[in-house]
Amino acid sequence: MLVPLTENRSISTSEDVVAVRQAVRQRAVDLGFNLVDQTKIVTAASELARNTLQYGGGGTLLIEEVLQGSRRGIRLVFEDNGPGIPNIELAMKDGYTTGNGLGLGLSGAKRLSNEFSIQSRPGEGTRVTIVRWR
Ligand SMILES: Nc1ncnc2c1ncn2[C@@H]1O[C@H](COP(=O)(O)OP(=O)(O)O)[C@@H](O)[C@H]1O
Ligand SMILES: [Mg+2]
Repeated sequence: MLVPLTENRSISTSEDVVAVRQAVRQRAVDLGFNLVDQTKIVTAASELARNTLQYGGGGTLLIEEVLQGSRRGIRLVFEDNGPGIPNIELAMKDGYTTGNGLGLGLSGAKRLSNEFSIQSRPGEGTRVTIVRWR
């Protein structure tokens, strides 16, 4: 079966987070990412999926293949309708957590990606978009 170019996944359980890791890995393999780049995008996806579940109360992931000239890549859009992030600049700081994490998820995901953007509104939810080019 052909893998669809875009894929929507629900993130409601920790099993879904595992499935997200596998789906992103598979997509990276299909696009010809080397092992190091596969691991980077999978690690970033894992952190963001866990945030979607833990802080966002669950949400969705859109996986898309993107093309720019002859360059191919993966775009991941994580969305939830949770409480949102009141201070994005603070949340992005290494070591900042409101849970019991290491506070390295958002900042780590940014470092592991070529493009990173975050939109959030208190009371409405959070959307984090990353792109990793091959
Ligand atoms: N989807 C989200 N919804 C609400 N808050 C979030 C979300 N993602 C991250 N945050 C906030 O940003 C903080 C930092 O996230 P992160 O860097 O992943 O560290 P950690 O997960 O270890 O707390 C979290 O503690 C939380 O307060
Ligand atoms: Mg985190």
